[in-house]
Amino acid sequence: DVVDVRSLTGEGLFTYDPGFVSTAACESKITYIDGDKGILLHRGYPIEQLAEHSTYLETCFLLIYGELPLQSELREFEEIIRKHTMVHEQLRNFFNGFRRDAHPMAVMCGVVGALSAFYHDSLDISNERHREIAAFRLISKMPTLAAMSYKYSKGQPFVYPRNSLDYSANFLHMLFGTPCEEAEVNPIIARAMDRIFLLHADHEQNASTSTVRLAGSSGANPFACIAAGIAALWGPAHGGANEAVLNMLQEIGDEKNIDKYIARAKDKDDPFRLMGFGHRVYKNFDPRAKVMKQTCDEVLNELGLEDDPLFKIAKRLEKIALEDEYFVEKKLYPNVDFYSGIILKAIGIPTEMFTVIFATGRTPGWIAHWHEMISGPYRIGRPRQLYTGSDIRDYVAVNQRS
Ligand code: ACO
Repeated sequence: DVVDVRSLTGEGLFTYDPGFVSTAACESKITYIDGDKGILLHRGYPIEQLAEHSTYLETCFLLIYGELPLQSELREFEEIIRKHTMVHEQLRNFFNGFRRDAHPMAVMCGVVGALSAFYHDSLDISNERHREIAAFRLISKMPTLAAMSYKYSKGQPFVYPRNSLDYSANFLHMLFGTPCEEAEVNPIIARAMDRIFLLHADHEQNASTSTVRLAGSSGANPFACIAAGIAALWGPAHGGANEAVLNMLQEIGDEKNIDKYIARAKDKDDPFRLMGFGHRVYKNFDPRAKVMKQTCDEVLNELGLEDDPLFKIAKRLEKIALEDEYFVEKKLYPNVDFYSGIILKAIGIPTEMFTVIFATGRTPGWIAHWHEMISGPYRIGRPRQLYTGSDIRDYVAVNQRS
């Protein structure tokens, strides 16, 4: 049953709900999840159908505007996104200010927030056109900034976008190409990249999206709000999980060590968790993981990596966890990050970039939620607390404290 506390005015009801496990903070028409049945719908469309038939950019349109585009609308949207792929040349100076060994997510927190210092014609949140241009800019520029953060960490020159390429192929070009040469992009890999973006595009009120809404509820500009979302996504319990999966596989190192790590994951005195397993919402299976697993098999097959020792560890872990009593009983299935981590590693993308790619894919979801909130009536988000600190007491001068 849902109780709308807005009807209980006069501070009559106070709920204490750490982790917001049973408190809705907004109404939304964007995404529906049924964790028990493994259902994920964007604007009513099942994620499996979108992954099979749609593209990332079409799904961006769907999330933001609420309907699938007509052919002409899709063409126009793709054209606008292409038009905005470049970033202000002075943003290079931002990159140059960072240490080369900075984590790319640290760089992204800075440079995405800095967009608000460059695009003054998309900062007035009361102006619908400003909000729309900000959305185009963010979707367009995220891959460019992501690739720049990678190139900077490698000490390589930045590669400008090549707008004759599709969105995901263009991103791979900016990552793996050079200013002199276009990267050779395998269409199967480009399609896998597009699916990774699409499968991460939205997931209703997760930690980073809720952060974007909370930041936006104060009237902050869209670039600042998305930077806040990027910061929230960085943690290993959220977007950092796919990076943590690879680090864990590397730490396991050999198939013969798997049992030891499985035992550690079950040991309540050991903080170790099997990364890429379990989900707050999906307690039977993650529908995105099903699609991602299929793409993962395609990519490993295409690149001839099925016998790579690291991926063999992953396959065995997956099998054990799906059969082991502890994991089955606690409904800890491989999640989308388990498979996306393996795909990204197979493509040759360094682990520090994994969460940056998640952030790039999640951008339309963040924008759609921010836009939905700003377009309707909303109040500044201000969670309550249950105070457990000291009772009132008098200040004691420093020389009289014992
Ligand atoms: N390995 C071992 N045991 C686990 C794991 C795991 N990966 N995940 C949960 N458990 C156990 C917990 O110890 C707990 O056991 P208990 O009931 O005996 O105390 C039980 O399962 C429930 O765990 P909670 O932490 O209460 O579940 P919650 O829903 O709060 O957390 C989370 C979900 C954060 C995803 C968790 O499963 C986890 O840490 N997984 C690993 C990190 C990960 O892969 N995160 C990616 C999430 S997907 C995404 O962001 C797109």
